[in-house]
Amino acid sequence: MAVLVSGGAGYIGSHMVLELLDRGEKVVVLDNLSTGFWWAVPPEAVFVQGDVGDQQLVESVIAEHGVSEIAHFAARIVVPESVSDPLGYYYNNTVKTRALLESAVRCGVKHVIFSSTAAVYGEPAVSPVPEEIALDPINPYGRSKLMSEWMLQDAAKAHGFSYVALRYFNVAGADPRGRSGQSSPNATHLIKVASQAALGQREGLTIFGSDYATPDGTCVRDYIHVTDLARAHLAALDHLRGGGASLTLNCGYGRGYSVRQVVDVVKKVSGVDFPVTMAERRAGDPGSLIARADRIRAELGWSPEHDDLEEIVGQALAWEDKLRTRNASA
Ligand code: UD1
Repeated sequence: MAVLVSGGAGYIGSHMVLELLDRGEKVVVLDNLSTGFWWAVPPEAVFVQGDVGDQQLVESVIAEHGVSEIAHFAARIVVPESVSDPLGYYYNNTVKTRALLESAVRCGVKHVIFSSTAAVYGEPAVSPVPEEIALDPINPYGRSKLMSEWMLQDAAKAHGFSYVALRYFNVAGADPRGRSGQSSPNATHLIKVASQAALGQREGLTIFGSDYATPDGTCVRDYIHVTDLARAHLAALDHLRGGGASLTLNCGYGRGYSVRQVVDVVKKVSGVDFPVTMAERRAGDPGSLIARADRIRAELGWSPEHDDLEEIVGQALAWEDKLRTRNASA
């Protein structure tokens, strides 16, 4: 029995791998290293370099390692990039997920955990946003993931496997033990960019849009610590293994911070007053996204352990610093 983690060399996937290994699971990572790093995969996991859309490879990996569950993280995740390259997003996120699901069905995989996103909600009229609200994504990224949710739902029903789709809000921070973090040099995440600005790796930070209908005019997001998110996946796995029904759940804390508030916390925690400039809205950005977060607690018994923006920012800064040392000596 092994868990196949697609995208396990990436940011969130690598934290899932660590959590799985910490509790003694057998883990196989499949990653094409388009944005991930081989060194992010611990030696205790089997690493296969390849693509989730390569059915021959996926099916041989499943058979060889006795894969019983798949946690599917591999995806492109940058909202503005999805606006400029929609077909790339539909291919990578939707078409390849279809291929992976077909392989899973052919090989008799019992359970799938899927990385979905709060972007499936679009600009929700209700905040915090509950799972059952009508879905209306406003960017190709959200649509590429929503189509995958639908495929999962239909295929699970038709072929008798079960799944948990987790709709991530804004994932941030790094492993509290300093073993992994957000490593992509071109990452666009707010907390990553602000951390780089605080460490002098960027000139400063640009805030995209100050005319949103939010308390200070900048976008509001629900930032969730990556380790809490990884543990939600473990809880989902246990739920499915225990015979639990398929679920689609929000993964957030249920409270939001504006871009300005996040920037202030990064300045406070780092002690650096880096330059901030204001700019136009960024394509595809909704004004506010906050999770209604009670269903995941009720269904999976999950509760966060790192719901603290200063802790999240502190660990993001520590990881960025580590990465700087690593890159300097590489
Ligand atoms: C993030 C996720 C996306 C997920 C969504 C759910 C990433 C790359 N994307 O998107 O997969 O679906 O959360 O809520 O993790 N900002 C600035 N200046 C910057 C960078 C960002 O002002 O330099 C602003 C953005 O305009 C946005 C907010 O900060 O309002 C957060 O942006 P970002 O960290 O890129 O995440 P999302 O686009 O919300």
